[in-house]
Amino acid sequence: MYRTLAFALGLAALGCSKSAPPADDPLAIPSPEELAAYQLPAKGTAPAAAPEAAPAAEVAVGPDGPESITIAPLTVSDDPAEIEKGKALFAGKGCVACHRIDETKLVGPGLKGVLSRRSVPWVQRMILNPDAMLKQDPVAKKLLAEHLTPMPAQGVDPQTELPALVAYLKSL
Ligand code: HEC
Repeated sequence: MYRTLAFALGLAALGCSKSAPPADDPLAIPSPEELAAYQLPAKGTAPAAAPEAAPAAEVAVGPDGPESITIAPLTVSDDPAEIEKGKALFAGKGCVACHRIDETKLVGPGLKGVLSRRSVPWVQRMILNPDAMLKQDPVAKKLLAEHLTPMPAQGVDPQTELPALVAYLKSL
């Protein structure tokens, strides 16, 4: 009982003590300024280092699509045999299920004139890796927002099939 009282008195004495504790006193109650230094940034306030964290990929994407999607340089053939091969692939690979070859929409956009509105590398990337295009390429993202169906990869071989498909699309 007396001990408790003594303790309480002791605390009171500490609290009332006029002389401020030395700055390096580990038990000192921190001043509001000291407390502020430990505050986390307020909600919605970006930490100082944030601007450089902007995803570089977004910024770097030009009309050919993201360079991270690797493609081989392609000169589009106008050889009728190559175009015929592409036409057969367009059916055989299931593109016909979602694309018309005029300007009208089916599940995806009509593909007539696609190579006048998009570059060859962009079309190569879209056919080979639609998943990555839909995540990274601003034009592909916009198409997805309009069509609401993500184009699935059709397992097109980049060497033996892609050039013929692109030749066919260019002929439309
Ligand atoms: C399941 C449906 C589906 C299949 C199969 C499909 N696509 Fe697509 N395609 C789409 C959709 C939908 C888009 C628009 C982007 C999106 O929403 O993913 C698109 C976009 C495209 C574009 C860009 C069109 C533009 O206007 O820029 C090209 C080129 C394309 N597809 C070619 C093909 C080829 C070639 C095949 C076959 C190897 C194929 N697609 C198979 C649904 C499909």
